[in-house]
Amino acid sequence: MKLSLALGLLSIIGGADAFSTSRSFSPRIKSQLHMATAGSLGCRPIGIGSAAPKTIITNSDLEDVVETSDEWISTRTGISQRRVLQHEETIKGLATDAGKQALEMSGVDPEDIDLVICATSSSDDLFGDATSIAAALGCKNAMGFDLTAACSGFLFSTVTAGQFLNNPSNMKNALVVGADALSRWVDWDDRNSCILFGDGAGAMVLTRDKGSHGVLGYSAHSNGGGYDELNLGYCGSPRMVATPGDGTTLSEGSYKKIAMNGREVYKFATREVPRVLNEALEAADLTVDDVDWLLLHQANIRIMETVASRLGMPMEKVITNLADYGNTSAASIPIALDEAVRSGKVKKGDVIACAGFGAGLSWGSAILRWG
Ligand code: UT7
Repeated sequence: MKLSLALGLLSIIGGADAFSTSRSFSPRIKSQLHMATAGSLGCRPIGIGSAAPKTIITNSDLEDVVETSDEWISTRTGISQRRVLQHEETIKGLATDAGKQALEMSGVDPEDIDLVICATSSSDDLFGDATSIAAALGCKNAMGFDLTAACSGFLFSTVTAGQFLNNPSNMKNALVVGADALSRWVDWDDRNSCILFGDGAGAMVLTRDKGSHGVLGYSAHSNGGGYDELNLGYCGSPRMVATPGDGTTLSEGSYKKIAMNGREVYKFATREVPRVLNEALEAADLTVDDVDWLLLHQANIRIMETVASRLGMPMEKVITNLADYGNTSAASIPIALDEAVRSGKVKKGDVIACAGFGAGLSWGSAILRWG
């Protein structure tokens, strides 16, 4: 593709400010230009919230479910317990709680939210949860839709919301939700994967702000060549419909369970996450030394340790709550950010390097300045 065409398309995707002079690309990024890496989006995060189910399953509880031990799970993953939705509970309920908290912190009136994106792979409704979450929150002027990118969903949704706010549209405020209930889709007979996942929701309010730089840079990737390493595929059963003649065999819908090659996902994450963080930092004209906090998708403490070490960052700068929640997929980054902000760890002006990775395969990074 000609460079001029690529630049043109990128400026469309990245919005008017993607090539603003205040946030220019480093030479390396310029020479390796790809479509989903850009500098500042003219918006900033101003509210965050989260919610998790009350029901807790500890590692010791899982010893009664599969052949495992608290010791194996803690040392191999860093997880101690996970929260799970019970049968009658909904992921929309958690997402709404999280959204309410984020709106309250932001001070934005729900009617002034223009966009609600719900990042999820496990919505209550296959047609999407964003519109009913918006309705429950009173965001009656918002356009809402779901975005599925597995554990990268919150990152991809933040970038997508930033494009809307950065473009010359009427949109001023967006609510980005990450919500997943993977306990519904885990194979509870598979000790390789059932020990990892938990349920939860987080939400963040982004507001348009051309003068400040709250989403400083981002980079996002996917590679369907790795699809087999982690998926949750369709698995319908035959359903005869009595159309004229012999009838038609259709498919009655349902899904399989989560299938994961843990070792391959581990290798992919430790290889790609440091790279994508460096790409986003370069797009933001920053270096690792400018980063106050590293916030990775909460999947495995060993992945976080390896990524931090590859970036040359001490573990004291790594935000993690994996021990208490397990891997909550699209919800893991906003839940951890919410706790870090509310506990006073993350302060206004702090730079947070976030990265998500997961099924697709997909991975991405966004560099945020809080507040
Ligand atoms: O959101 C993104 C999604 N996923 C991830 O990020 C997952 C990335 N991968 C991982 O976190 C790790 O690969 C796992 C935690 C899934 C597995 O840890 P590992 O250190 O890579 O273990 P392994 O798969 O190499 O298995 C080592 C051994 C095997 O036994 P053998 O073959 O050596 O006898 C497994 O059968 O550990 C065994 N094992 C277990 N033992 C006790 C696997 N799961 C368990 C278990 N309890 N729950």
